[in-house]
Amino acid sequence: MAGREDSPSKIMDKEAAHQRISELRKTIEYHSARYYQQDAPEISDAEYDRLMKELQNLEACYPDDELASSPTQRVGAAPLSKFAPFTHPQPMLSLANAFGAGEIRDFDSRIRRLAKVERVDYVAEPKLDGLAVNLIYENGQFRRGATRGDGAVGEDVSQNLKTIASLPLKMKTCASHTIPEFIEVRGEVYMEKEPFEKLNRRRVEEGEAPFANPRNAAAGSLRQLDPKITARRPLNIFLYGVGSAGNAAFGSHWEIIQTLAAWGFPVNPLIRQASDIDACIAYFEHIASIRSSLPYDIDGVVLKVNRLELQALLGSVSRSPRWALACKFPAEQAATVIQDIIVQVGRTGTLTPVAVMEPVNVGGVLVSRATLHNEDEILKKDIRVGDAVLIQRAGDVIPEVVSVILSKRTGREKEFRMPRACPECGSEIVRQAGEAAHRCVNLSCPAQLKEHIRHFASRGAMDIEGLGEKLSAQLFDAKLINDPADLYFLTKEQLLGLDRQAEKSAENLLDAIERSRTPALDKFIFALGIRHVGERTAKLLAHHFGSLEALMSAGREELTAIHEIGPEIAQSILEFFAEAKNRIVLEKFQRAGLSPQAPVPPAQTGLQGKSFVFTGSLESMGRNEAKAVVESLGGVVHSSVTGKTSYVVAGREPGSKLEKARKQNIPVISEEEFLTMAGRPIRRPA
Ligand code: IVH
Repeated sequence: MAGREDSPSKIMDKEAAHQRISELRKTIEYHSARYYQQDAPEISDAEYDRLMKELQNLEACYPDDELASSPTQRVGAAPLSKFAPFTHPQPMLSLANAFGAGEIRDFDSRIRRLAKVERVDYVAEPKLDGLAVNLIYENGQFRRGATRGDGAVGEDVSQNLKTIASLPLKMKTCASHTIPEFIEVRGEVYMEKEPFEKLNRRRVEEGEAPFANPRNAAAGSLRQLDPKITARRPLNIFLYGVGSAGNAAFGSHWEIIQTLAAWGFPVNPLIRQASDIDACIAYFEHIASIRSSLPYDIDGVVLKVNRLELQALLGSVSRSPRWALACKFPAEQAATVIQDIIVQVGRTGTLTPVAVMEPVNVGGVLVSRATLHNEDEILKKDIRVGDAVLIQRAGDVIPEVVSVILSKRTGREKEFRMPRACPECGSEIVRQAGEAAHRCVNLSCPAQLKEHIRHFASRGAMDIEGLGEKLSAQLFDAKLINDPADLYFLTKEQLLGLDRQAEKSAENLLDAIERSRTPALDKFIFALGIRHVGERTAKLLAHHFGSLEALMSAGREELTAIHEIGPEIAQSILEFFAEAKNRIVLEKFQRAGLSPQAPVPPAQTGLQGKSFVFTGSLESMGRNEAKAVVESLGGVVHSSVTGKTSYVVAGREPGSKLEKARKQNIPVISEEEFLTMAGRPIRRPA
């Protein structure tokens, strides 16, 4: 790598500087994707910040044309207090809906009649279930972007849009169309199903309400006032149209789609030309058949008249163009009756109302519970116990109540009231300003404590085998433990006194507890159950502070200075350590001799300059990933064993390289040893 100093040195010539700049941009793009999108950083926070700083410094001294698309421009804006209104240069229309082939044919007949033509050709596109945005590019540079809003005025979410890795900050040039001075590009911001599930799992872990579906998650993420939060959300974008296109002249919608792709915009690869309405219907059926295998949710297909002059001729009615149609899939909905609304208390005291319903089959799955999220949601939908309701399951997502079937109201339904006292401990319930959730404020609430102990012992945290929900509750109810630190003082005699505790299982549990006495620091921080501190944040904190003591004495400023830690997380960390009850538990951990292990910073791993050869298959990663790990830490990977090989990593079913290494006395290490060396000790599968 060329010059690695933090500030550009005077002797660095211009060419070298530009080379380093482009190298840094690539490296940072790579690491920020690992960090934000894939949730798997390869380098430490400090290293990332250092690269960013180096790039910022170089860019300040050696400005170039690519600056607008540099990673330095993506994140970095301060949180807003609210979004500025944004008037769309050309209004954003909506789409008329059609259900079934009959209505699709009606649409085509109407167009042929109005246009007095025999046949119309179309472009057919998947209808993504996200939220529509309008992006402004000037001379090829991304300038601003906004949500659709009411179609005339949306919200300026430019800073958040910039954090979407697939959104080009700079358009590419293409041979057929010059880049216009001004263009509005339209598309859909969405979240894929898998990252959505992952995000929700993380939210639940962190004591936050999960999003009902990927659409809500995408909308909620894009409308964050703090772009740092948006940056952590796995958002994607597909572009499917233009608004006022300035001097860009197009003849057909298909040409627009092709040109958008050539300009470097992500365009859905499933978009097709359809030469008549039969082809459109075949497309609709095909997309319906592959719907569940797509990585993102769609709720139908969109048909658009291809020729733009025909579009112009057709015009629009009541804010929907006559030349486009949304052909919707039937939703996976079903009707049932709400028998009860119960309230669950989570680890952080959040009260979640849950509808208990007569079991009903929705798209092949028997459903009997649906989350109602919070009181506002219940009031908004006016859901009462005894109501007949329509419920919906979107993909694999937790079922939701769509609406009450009001025509079935008898008058005997009971309105729901959030309890004034915690259903578990009877303590006061509060709702803080600006929060949708009601919380039980009692830190000793048994429901919270049990949840807390269960969380402490869970796999991503201290990983105490055998200590699940039942046993946590049993130990707590038997008054053997009151908090997680008490686990370390349990005796075999106490355990044997419990129902159904045999000698062997008591020993196993004590062994598992014993094994957890030297946890990795990040696991321990996560296990503490600090609100908003999930696995990832815990890792960041562990890397930054290196010890629990250092974290405990950190002030607000030091916390928020960490990339990705905003004021809300910082506040919750400060509150946690300021709380007397928590301090008592922490002291108890210390008395128990618990000693969290500081992470090995990547810079100190023994991989720098070392040469590795892999043989056999690895359990935790593929070869390419292993190679990337080695390279990111300054090592190299070779395919054959030579005198210069530093280590041979032997996976499952190693080949002849293993023998060769042994003959030449080259150190052979296991996958586990390799991972430890690379500063990513193994997380053992259950
Ligand atoms: S075109 C005038 N194309 O559907 C045309 N919309 O009900 C306006 N949508 O707000 C939109 N995929 O959020 C278009 N391929 C697609 C789409 C699409 C999803 C959404 C978009 C829009 C809504 C209209």
